[in-house]
Amino acid sequence: MSKQKTSYSCQACGATSPKWQGQCPGCGEWNTLVETVADTGATAGRFQSLAADGQIRQLADVETAELPRTATGLDELDRVLGGGLVPGGVVLIGGDPGIGKSTLLLQAMTRLAINRKVLYVSGEESPQQIALRARRLQLGDAPVALLAEIGLEKILNGLTQVKPDVAVIDSIQTLYTEALTSAPGSVAQVRECAAQLTRYAKRTGTTILLVGHVTKEGALAGPRVLEHIVDAVLYFEGDTHSSFRLIRAIKNRFGAVNELGVFAMTDKGLREVSNPSALFLSQHREPVPGSCVLVTQEGSRPMLVEVQALVDDAHSPQPRRLAVGMEQNRLALLLAVLHRHAGIAAFDQDVFINAVGGVRIVEPAADLAVLLAIVSSLKNRALPDKLIVFGEVGLAGEVRPVQRGQERLREAAKLGFTQAIVPKANRPRQAIDGMTITAVERLADAVGAAL
Ligand code: TYD
Ligand code: MG
Repeated sequence: MSKQKTSYSCQACGATSPKWQGQCPGCGEWNTLVETVADTGATAGRFQSLAADGQIRQLADVETAELPRTATGLDELDRVLGGGLVPGGVVLIGGDPGIGKSTLLLQAMTRLAINRKVLYVSGEESPQQIALRARRLQLGDAPVALLAEIGLEKILNGLTQVKPDVAVIDSIQTLYTEALTSAPGSVAQVRECAAQLTRYAKRTGTTILLVGHVTKEGALAGPRVLEHIVDAVLYFEGDTHSSFRLIRAIKNRFGAVNELGVFAMTDKGLREVSNPSALFLSQHREPVPGSCVLVTQEGSRPMLVEVQALVDDAHSPQPRRLAVGMEQNRLALLLAVLHRHAGIAAFDQDVFINAVGGVRIVEPAADLAVLLAIVSSLKNRALPDKLIVFGEVGLAGEVRPVQRGQERLREAAKLGFTQAIVPKANRPRQAIDGMTITAVERLADAVGAAL
């Protein structure tokens, strides 16, 4: 293959430069120049539109068919994908090393292989290693085609030969294309390889699952460049100390985001957890100070999560604020609201917050529960038994309603909770059996009602 010319283009403004520079000559940003293929002549077809002919058509005239979905056989994965894999769809699965991405995909592929043609391309493990893992998971005889390769051109050849319905690329960071001189894993290589594979997927209707590693900062390596190339981005997350693994959609062109799939890592691979609502509660025999149960909504499923707070005298002028499973800045903000609008000061206290079970809570509906856990720890008094709490707390000290309040309450009632403190607007019109509901408008009212 003839060597193609490369140039450097700015990730921020798009300016190009024939050689690498620390600062972009166009916009003055630092470290934004990235190697790209410059020679369009030699690589005809590198850029193509998705429509074959480039005609202008009316939206209403475009024929569509309901996208046929291929279920992977793992319901929790299908839920996050919006019902299954779509032909021509490209899905990026990100996660920390060792979290179980390869295991998940191997399990999904061996199930799919029953009635689909699948190809598993690995740049990280040898066929022996993959086979060994498959045997251990008792999936050894599934008709999965394996290819251990990191050259993009050879992989595309392999794909053309095998013509699989579904292909896995494990991982995108190990691939390199001969068109670029930079090393595998660099932004340029990752982006170019993903773009080429996406083009192949769209052209042939093959579903491609790309595995991507996450950097220390928590972003998919290849600074977000992949996220807009692909159709769906899933994150595989979990605490390495707990066996639970959560898979979450960050972007999905074929379904809803914020769906959550739950798995448990066992010695026989990943096992689906189809009813996770009570998973993130710790078992206290009697109520303890600093613990509050909240109902969070993950996609279509409500889930009960215990939030724990520890408030203790600070021994330095800079008290510590630490939030595990929640956003740190939000904690600082909530403590300010607590002082201003409920008159409870914590400026001389260290405050630690933890969401039990390694779950990560992203929605502001957790605010009220976090604050009640903090007040409970500060006063060293337990909250009432069998109490659940949800509600967003605003800067003016108001308790704002959250989405799907009714569903959350019903799920909590199902799990045996008998009391609830909720935003006023979330008060159900019909009583919920066995549940005493206190509706509050202000943070101070909630603190008064709970303690
Ligand atoms: P892996 O799928 O290789 O992670 P990734 O591809 O995301 O880097 O998962 C490896 C981890 O999973 C490893 O630490 C061991 C654990 N594991 C089990 O606990 N049970 C099993 O059956 C398998 C296959 C892996
Ligand atoms: Mg792996």
